[in-house]
Amino acid sequence: MKQLFIDAGNKQSHISKNIFGHFSEHLGRCIYEGIYVGENSKIPNKNGIRTDVFEALKALEVPVLRWPGGCFADTYHWMDGIGEKSQRKKLVNVHWGGVTEDNSFGTHEFMNLCEELGCEPYVAGNLGSGTVQEMAQWVEYMTFGGISPMADLRRKNGREKPWKLKYFGIGNENWGCGGNMRPQYYADLYNQYQSFCRDYGDNQLFKVACGPNAMDYNWTDELLKTVRPWHTKAISLHYYTVPYGNWEHKGDAVDFTDEEYYETLRAAMQMEEIVTRHLEIMSRHDPKHEIGLIVDEWGNWFDVEKGTNPGFLYQQNTMRDAVTAALNLDIFISHSDRIVMANIAQVVNVLQSVILTEGERMTKTPTYHVFDLYRRHMEGDRVYSTCDSVSYENAPMLSHSASVKDGKLSLTVTNASLTDAQEIEVSVKDFAVNKVKAEILTAPDVREHNTFDSPETVKLADFTDYEISGGKLKIKLPKCSVAAFTIE
Ligand code: AHR
Repeated sequence: MKQLFIDAGNKQSHISKNIFGHFSEHLGRCIYEGIYVGENSKIPNKNGIRTDVFEALKALEVPVLRWPGGCFADTYHWMDGIGEKSQRKKLVNVHWGGVTEDNSFGTHEFMNLCEELGCEPYVAGNLGSGTVQEMAQWVEYMTFGGISPMADLRRKNGREKPWKLKYFGIGNENWGCGGNMRPQYYADLYNQYQSFCRDYGDNQLFKVACGPNAMDYNWTDELLKTVRPWHTKAISLHYYTVPYGNWEHKGDAVDFTDEEYYETLRAAMQMEEIVTRHLEIMSRHDPKHEIGLIVDEWGNWFDVEKGTNPGFLYQQNTMRDAVTAALNLDIFISHSDRIVMANIAQVVNVLQSVILTEGERMTKTPTYHVFDLYRRHMEGDRVYSTCDSVSYENAPMLSHSASVKDGKLSLTVTNASLTDAQEIEVSVKDFAVNKVKAEILTAPDVREHNTFDSPETVKLADFTDYEISGGKLKIKLPKCSVAAFTIE
């Protein structure tokens, strides 16, 4: 029997709901088909936003949505995506499949979507190929309530009030697709561009500088020598899980071996070391921790589904994705004193999506259900907890998070083993375990996934394989599962 101890009175850090954030790029079928089908589509929609996807995202309480990229962001000229749709410029999406971008989804469509979802927009500005003036005018267009050329243009395009915009990224991956810059050069440009992105009225921008790629610790070190807390609220980090780090052959999303499964877990767990080391470097430059870390692209990256456009990054999603999503979220929660946001890539039809669509049909992926289970940690306080460690092939077999909110204790536990169920005895200090409600996500095989013909093969179920005895919670957790407990 494994021991899991929770000290419910020992609060460690606040868990921002933004850790459970999402990312939407003009890439493949994420925006077009996935989110936006246009007003004239026969797929049920409101103002062109497909209703089924909107409702699924609303149910997930999506806290923040990043847009328009990704690499697309540093090619995006926002003025192409405003005004009468038939007049908008048609362009080539040079990064993603060379398809036509008709700009029918632009600033108004995105900002209105966020308003309707009740989530924070997180806009990535174009530093790589756009001008300072263009970026400054975009902020003015979105957030200025007075009389000005950009605010007047917004009104002419049908939006009287400014939108509320907090999160604003100054470029994306400027070490790579966003301009192949050196950190020193980017840092200087960051300072310049951000200077002209103003706070209008009571709108206060939370400016995000482009941080490192994965283990590029030099980028963080150099960037932090230049950017300052009074104009930089956070830096970003991108790290994707690719089995064996082999970008040429990332492996099939469904047809993988047990060995590849454990390797995927190991690769996912590298996030812990990567985050820890970047945070250490940040601490040296910013000892008061005024600059946060945002992991604004993370997730599993496998080979595209056979027969699909290689530039569309469309992949299926199995229980393997569910388990690695839980492991990553546990890492972010454990660092929630410094990680202020994370955005899984990407929300619909691209990489480790929470939703897949095909024509009129939609399915929620196993990853969706993990985000659903973890909703209970949103805006909670992480409390001290520890669990007997069990690992296999350098991957943890048990992972968990515990938080308190509104007088309730929430516990999520993952059993990553493909072979062994785990008996776990949960002892809780400073909290009486009287009533428990639990849900579980599991499947007989780790390769199980949802298809459009069978959209509920993997879904949440009530979980009852536990007992309360002597004030302790005793759980029998099946192999390959993610469970969540609400304790009162
Ligand atoms: O999410 C897909 C791509 O991965 C993004 O466009 C880019 O930022 C990253 O390299």
